[in-house]
Order: sequence, then C-alpha cells, then structure tokens
Amino acid sequence: MTSRSSNSRTPRHEPVMLREAVEALAVKPGGRYVDATIGLGGHSRAILEAAPDVRLLGIDQDPQALEAARERLAPFAGAAQLVHGNFEAIADICEAHDFVPVDGVLFDLGVSSLQLDTPGRGFSFQRDEPLDMRMNPDAEVTAADIVNSYDEQRLAALIWEYGEERRSRQIARAIVERRPLHTTGALVNAIEQAVGRGRGRQINPATLTFQALRIAVNRELDILADSLSAAHGLLAGVGSRLVVISFHSLEDRVVKQYMLKESSACLCPPRTPMCVCGHVATLRLVARGALRPGPDEVGRNPRARSARLRVAESITATVTGRAA
Ligand SMILES: C[S@@+](CC[C@H](N)C(=O)[O-])C[C@H]1O[C@@H](n2cnc3c(N)ncnc32)[C@H](O)[C@@H]1O
Repeated sequence: MTSRSSNSRTPRHEPVMLREAVEALAVKPGGRYVDATIGLGGHSRAILEAAPDVRLLGIDQDPQALEAARERLAPFAGAAQLVHGNFEAIADICEAHDFVPVDGVLFDLGVSSLQLDTPGRGFSFQRDEPLDMRMNPDAEVTAADIVNSYDEQRLAALIWEYGEERRSRQIARAIVERRPLHTTGALVNAIEQAVGRGRGRQINPATLTFQALRIAVNRELDILADSLSAAHGLLAGVGSRLVVISFHSLEDRVVKQYMLKESSACLCPPRTPMCVCGHVATLRLVARGALRPGPDEVGRNPRARSARLRVAESITATVTGRAA
C-alpha cells in the first residue's frame, strides 16, 4: 500500500512482480524501454537500474502519478522521459519523442495504490467522497455520470460484464431507485440495500460494482487489444519483449488472446485441410502460461494476489508497426 515516507514527498510503494517483470523484459545495456503505465515509477526505476545506459520513456494518464514518478526517477533525469498521455496513443507518443524502435514495453495495468489511497479520487469504497474514478482528471465521464445516466438494463449489463457480479440486476435496480448518487458512500448504501452488507471473509459487496465502474470510466478493456498491438508495432526486432501484468481475468483474457494469436502461424479453423489465412507469427511466448507472484510477495503485498504476468518476444527482424 502507498504511504508517505517521513523524509520525502515520494509515496512508499511496492511494485507488483518487480523482479519477474524486469527479468521478463531481459533489459540489456543501452536498451530503450517504454513503461506504458509508469504509475509511481517503481518498475521504471528497476528497469533503469538493471543495465548500464538504459533509456526509458514512461507514460501515465494521471498527472499525480507522473509527479511521483518524476521524483522517484530524479537520479535518472537524463535517461528517462515522462509523458502525460493515454497508452492507447503509445505509437504517436513514442514517435513524437523520437523513441522508436524499442527493446521492450511494459504494461502494469489497472489502478495504482496512489489512486486507491488518495482521498477525493473516488476509487475506494472505504471512504465517502465524490463518485469520480477518473485516472485522468481531464477525462469527460465520471462514475457519477454513468450511475446517474444509464438506464437500469444498461447499468446491470455493465456491472455484469465488467464486474462479473452475479447480483448485477438487483444492484442496478437499487441504484436507479436511489439516484441521483454523487458519492461513493451513497453508492455503497445502494449496493448494500440490494445485496446486504456481506459477512465474515466474503469480499465487500461493493468490490465488483466499483471495479466495473472504474473499468467503464477509464475504458480499460475497450482500448487494451489495440494498445497491445500498437506497442507490439514498436518492438525493435528479434528478442525485443512485450510484458503485461494484469489484475483481473477480463484483462488477462485480452492479453492472452492477443499473445496467442500473434504467436500462431495459422488462424484457420481446426481441421481446415490447408492453411488459407496467410497469418504469420510475429511473437513467441517466452512463458507458456501466466506467471504468478510468489507466496512471499502475496504475504507482503495482498494487492499482488491477483496479478498475472505474460511475456512474449518478437521473432520478426523488423519493426512490425507503422513507426518503422
Ligand atoms: C498499477 S499502476 C502502475 C504502477 C507502476 N508500475 C509502478 O511501479 O509504480 C497503473 C498506472 O497505469 C496508469 N494507467 C492505467 N491505464 C492507463 C492508460 N490507458 N494510459 C496511461 N496510463 C494508464 C494509471 O493511471 C496508474 O498510474
């Protein structure tokens, strides 16, 4: 969890699967790496320290995260460039900063401990605050806009699809009955009215609905596959790596499908007598399944519990994307 250290303004922070992520990137001397979700800069710092003369471009849509990352990476000022932006524009951002091709791209998806712990951002159901949930405070749509404007059926579908919440219909009905809702506390009350308070070791009844709203507000699943493809297009050639850490099955599924597809030599349906698809594999899976954090890490940092890391490397000699 993030907390303020006594002698610095930089929040203390434990990056998830840090050793595994740096090893997966196979950081090499003089290499260029993109951290597409720089957050508090924990992974970036380890990448910069992993080999001599590494250069890094870090992206985040949250200016508060960038400020913390800038402070953490101050000793590497000449080697690291930080950019405020959405990773859906990763190709344009790298091109604009003359940072193509690259030896590796890291995505550490989802919400940061800073976002969860900073009062007033609306990500946590444990405090009563405005129902916001925007990672980028300049984005147009807040969680309040969604809960107050979607009709009941659309709300239920969103909570079901992005939260995998089996009580989505009851929750949507309670939200519609009680709106307008402008605070996280009011939303939690509506959810508890629908499904009760939850007991003992059950997860908080608001967890999945908050997850669903956060995913919708930040378009987390909508942009993922195209962003992976754009990042893949930046890779320098054979051996350069794409590494993705995800925190729930929905985003892991997108990552898995992307990597499986791009590492397959043929996409024809099974039992097609002869390949007609013309697909060419451009990636190789470095680890066949997803890597998981070890028990020590999960013990130290419960947020790591649901992490899955997938890694693939380029097997094509040239940059595959438009930014060659
Ligand atoms: C889990 S945190 C990353 C933590 C980071 N690896 C570290 O060591 O501190 C995810 C970060 O990605 C950012 N983020 C999520 N989606 C993004 C997007 N589409 N574009 C840019 N940044 C994004 C969030 O604002 C957050 O700061």
